[in-house]
Amino acid sequence: MNDNNLKIIQVSDLHFLKDGETMYGANPVNRFRAFINDVNKNQRNADLVVITGDIAHNGIKESYQLFKEELKRLDLPSVIMIGNHDNREVVKAELSSVTKIDDDGFIQSSIEIKNHKLIFCDTVWDNENINNIHEGYYCLKRFNWLEKEILSFKSNSSIIFMHHNPMNVFMKSMDNYSFNDKDQEIIAKFLDKYSSKIKYLFFGHGHRPLSGKWKNVPYASLRGLLHARELDFDSDVENFKMEEPSYGIIFVNENNLTFHIHDFMNKGKIYEGDENYLGFPNID
Ligand SMILES: [Fe+2]
Ligand SMILES: [Fe+2]
Repeated sequence: MNDNNLKIIQVSDLHFLKDGETMYGANPVNRFRAFINDVNKNQRNADLVVITGDIAHNGIKESYQLFKEELKRLDLPSVIMIGNHDNREVVKAELSSVTKIDDDGFIQSSIEIKNHKLIFCDTVWDNENINNIHEGYYCLKRFNWLEKEILSFKSNSSIIFMHHNPMNVFMKSMDNYSFNDKDQEIIAKFLDKYSSKIKYLFFGHGHRPLSGKWKNVPYASLRGLLHARELDFDSDVENFKMEEPSYGIIFVNENNLTFHIHDFMNKGKIYEGDENYLGFPNID
């Protein structure tokens, strides 16, 4: 691959449980192993793997210990972010060797690589005394940090990663758990102001593949490794189903950003360049 092309793997919503436990019939550890096997084999020239949160389903120590053991098998460097199912303090304690903390104690960091700045935001509620808050939060301290990160980079090529969708996406069950109303208003103004310096925004959390543009910033997301959200735009209830687990492959250079979504566990037959292929096959 051209060395000037940045290649980033995004994976999200691992939802680790305790060893051997399953959710919706699937084992999160096995899914993550399959992901690592695939990436180690097929994406060896990637620069970075970004894990956009919900590492553990219940934010417990055992899940992070399990995750840490599995992560050792990944041959590429990685960035670990947290989601609403994670527990920030437990992550800091259990994954201290693989997470970066900002000056205010949030799990936020940035990397400058191949003329781009990648910014990893912590969008999780910050009062440890109240649990089970699933909306996204971004306080003033974090906005100040983000503003500094964007302004301190000379080029206009920042790419932002976060767990939550800050905007609504025309799907009630996702919009109920986007950023809370107040912070959504603030980030809308923030993106309006800095859109010319932000190349793209990636997030997880929704367990659905989608893309769009908000406040002049293009955005995309993808399914997680475990359960997917049912395509139902009107239901207030979160209904999940099993679809193909996927990861994202982001290629970036000065002129282009392309996001591929790979259903890596699909073992469908590959029809290799059939020269006699004249049209559509018979469809049942
Ligand atoms: Fe999730
Ligand atoms: Fe989430």
